[in-house]
Amino acid sequence: MQTIRVKTASAKYDIVAGSGLIRSLAPRIERVSGKLPRRVFVLTSAPVWGLWGQAMQRSFKDAPVVLFLEPGEKHKTLASVEGLLQQMVAAGGDRGSLLIAFGGGIVGDVGGFVASIFMRGIPYVQVPTTFLAQVDSSVGGKTGVNLPEGKNLVGSFHQPLAVFADIGALETLPERELRAGLMESVKAGIIRDRALVRFMEEHAEEVLGRDPKALEKVIAASIRMKAGVVNQDERESGLRMILNFGHTVGHALEQATGYKTLLHGEAVGWGMVAALYLARHRGTISGRQAERMESLIHFYGPLPPLKVRAAKLMAATGGDKKNAGGVRRFVLPVGIGDAGVVEDVTPAELTAAMNYMLTRARERHA
Ligand SMILES: NC(=O)c1ccc[n+]([C@@H]2O[C@H](COP(=O)([O-])OP(=O)(O)OC[C@H]3O[C@@H](n4cnc5c(N)ncnc54)[C@H](O)[C@@H]3O)[C@@H](O)[C@H]2O)c1
Ligand SMILES: [Zn+2]
Repeated sequence: MQTIRVKTASAKYDIVAGSGLIRSLAPRIERVSGKLPRRVFVLTSAPVWGLWGQAMQRSFKDAPVVLFLEPGEKHKTLASVEGLLQQMVAAGGDRGSLLIAFGGGIVGDVGGFVASIFMRGIPYVQVPTTFLAQVDSSVGGKTGVNLPEGKNLVGSFHQPLAVFADIGALETLPERELRAGLMESVKAGIIRDRALVRFMEEHAEEVLGRDPKALEKVIAASIRMKAGVVNQDERESGLRMILNFGHTVGHALEQATGYKTLLHGEAVGWGMVAALYLARHRGTISGRQAERMESLIHFYGPLPPLKVRAAKLMAATGGDKKNAGGVRRFVLPVGIGDAGVVEDVTPAELTAAMNYMLTRARERHA
């Protein structure tokens, strides 16, 4: 069991990562919140509730009110939010109620947003059940939903009371989801934690075999990395930007493929391949280091083929909301374990990086 303290300008709380947290949830929440309120809501999805709901529910003396969100990105909408808010009113929710977001990143983002606006804001607890949600989306207090115009265009910063990342929940996670989530840990290591990179290189079999100790180590290190960054820059005015390593091209890939063929982590994996090429070209990372990092990405992948043209990708990059004022902003690794932001990436450099990535994708799937 590992506890990581988050201390932002707006809140202080613990993220706990370890086994057995779901079945001891209620007493753990009481330890941070005091006596549980009259109405406790659990937002979850039917698949997660079917697998892990009973275990969680047994820890409560008074059964919480369970609310369901349909699985899938297309339900991460304002319409879902409105429906949930209405159900909470109907079930007697008030300003003293507590919400528990119990599921993957979608449930976490929607749950956090609902908690931030219900009766102008109620406390909530994150219980992330995917690898990605444990190392990334449950950390940092960003919540929100999509609009037809784009992803995550509506939302808020709302820090939870606590986060409980139960590694045992990952037993039932599909292999592809696990591997995609691991890309965020590879990212964490490359930008900020050389020891994590080394651990992931040396203990790959245990990590992929879901050895609880190995998973706990990778998850805790990834959370520590992100929490450390968020502590210094809660609202993404500077440092927090480095978390976008691999995401400029990653987001473009997701957009250009209509969010259908690639999981987020897979797109980020390919995005890191492109960014590594750029870094190597600019000399912020050596050829040997770049190759080593690319091998790590492919080992934890394997990344799926890319069926997309370079021109379409270029266009998608221009539309990336992370690019301020049309500047081609990129996070580039500086050696292994450090990163910086460059603002002057030229279209020619970007095209070269994308072409490199597309060529590597073709070679690997020849
Ligand atoms: N707020 C943030 O800072 C932040 C950061 C990164 C990503 N996100 C968001 O996170 C979302 C993606 O999250 P995700 O990758 O967890 O996807 P997800 O929530 O769709 O979960 C993936 C799948 O795994 C299933 N699942 C969840 N837990 C399971 C378990 N223990 N066993 C078996 N199946 C399980 C879900 O039902 C779903 O089908 C995106 O909407 C993204 O925008 C937010
Ligand atoms: Zn990401």
